[in-house]
Amino acid sequence: MDLGQVFTDNAVADFMASLLSVRPSARILDPCFGKGVFIDACLRRGYKNITGCEIDPALYSYVEKKYPGIDLICGDFLKADPALRYDAVIMNPPYIRQEKIDDLKPLGITKSSVSKDPVFGGLPGAANMYMYFIVKALSLLEQGGEMVAIFPVSWQNAKSGREFEKLMRSLGDVERHIRISGKIFETAEMVEVVILKMRRSDSPGGLRENIEYARLAGGRVTVSHSVPDEGGLDMPVEFSIYADIRRGLTTGCNGIFINPPVPESDTVPIISGPKCVTGYSTENAAKDRLLKITGSASEETTAYLTSCAESIKDQKRPRTLYDKIAAGKKWYELQPPDGAGIIFSYFVRSGMKFIMNASGDAVRDNFYIIYPKIDRLLMFALLNNYYTYYQLERCGKRHGAGLLKLQRYDLEQLCFPDISGFKEDDKKTLIKLSKKMISTGKNMSEEITGAISGYAPWSFERISGAYKNLRKSRLEEGGYGAESR
Ligand SMILES: C[S@@+](CC[C@H](N)C(=O)[O-])C[C@H]1O[C@@H](n2cnc3c(N)ncnc32)[C@H](O)[C@@H]1O
Repeated sequence: MDLGQVFTDNAVADFMASLLSVRPSARILDPCFGKGVFIDACLRRGYKNITGCEIDPALYSYVEKKYPGIDLICGDFLKADPALRYDAVIMNPPYIRQEKIDDLKPLGITKSSVSKDPVFGGLPGAANMYMYFIVKALSLLEQGGEMVAIFPVSWQNAKSGREFEKLMRSLGDVERHIRISGKIFETAEMVEVVILKMRRSDSPGGLRENIEYARLAGGRVTVSHSVPDEGGLDMPVEFSIYADIRRGLTTGCNGIFINPPVPESDTVPIISGPKCVTGYSTENAAKDRLLKITGSASEETTAYLTSCAESIKDQKRPRTLYDKIAAGKKWYELQPPDGAGIIFSYFVRSGMKFIMNASGDAVRDNFYIIYPKIDRLLMFALLNNYYTYYQLERCGKRHGAGLLKLQRYDLEQLCFPDISGFKEDDKKTLIKLSKKMISTGKNMSEEITGAISGYAPWSFERISGAYKNLRKSRLEEGGYGAESR
């Protein structure tokens, strides 16, 4: 049974306990203490009045033996008496996807049982278990009480997250919003993780918090810098209405398939990575050659394939190719996805860049390929502007050194203004700007942003400031300093 058991690093727990500003005698709750890392951290900081809850009897007994004097409960936190009150909560709630919540039935937890509790009334059906924990924990705080919690930022990317965020913010103010990277948990590295410090309030003031960035390294957490968070952009059209998306070709062994020593007729051009492209078109890109036999292979190619197959069989690697050979399949036949679309490198270094792959050449899996369902030049404009760049800066994962990694999912979460409401003249302007960007390689994203701003929820000034701030902070984090756009 998946109880969402992911244990927090000691240094992170210490850092989180240091964010508490309650008095030493305050009543502190850890609603799911696991192996007790927050109990340890709170005791080290001199807090004595600690209550802990944990559903797993084995973990409960382990911690109970360690701290016989502490008020520990073995049970389901979601069923905690709603009349209880605490001065502070510190926690790492279980991350359990909604489809798996019903698996907890033997423990008396099902989606329908939790949704009966009025405190969860504002949560969507697709809520993850950590959302229930956060709402419940906030509801048990005294007015002015504090919650310090660590959890994945996945809510910021999912639709269900909007309702969760609304409910969470209706229960208190966010005082600290810290995105933390490094090996935060004992087990696998998690997706992006945030530490929130919230203060319970019946009338939250809607503080606009700064997002701070912290890193766990060498057993210490260091907060590097902060950027004002302008929040999410709300635009009416979802990505899937205007486009489809795929990842470029994964060869399974670039050494064999890319630039093979065979006649050119047994290859096709392929664009390997963003460095091969200058400007916003693949027209003049430096292309590699991909092994692709369309008719019958030349003698040279056949000899090459035989020697490659021998070495794969000897080394039993790469596994996928070995398995294909063992199954008697044509292991060298690859099916690159149609490259004719707008391509985007999933690693962003300085600026964002959606590139028109006019030639339709194959692209490697360093790119996503976006297939517009609307006019492709209009789509190109909807992608190459600050409204889109901002959304991606906000949801991408920072990898240090100024690098931002975007998942396919991040792109699928993009939203756009509704082009059916655009004046014909504005559409023409956008198409003209796209054409100019593609043919000259000049960055026209600022001009496109200006042309779209009349149809977007934020003014040109606001989106420019918000996007440039985020980008600047990412690049400064990497020690690059901010360049022009
Ligand atoms: C993400 S782990 C965190 C453990 C610990 N606080 C830490 O950070 O190392 C979540 C814990 O919640 C416990 N848990 C899951 N569902 C629970 C529930 N309904 N009530 C109480 N504890 C629960 C799990 O057994 C697990 O130990």
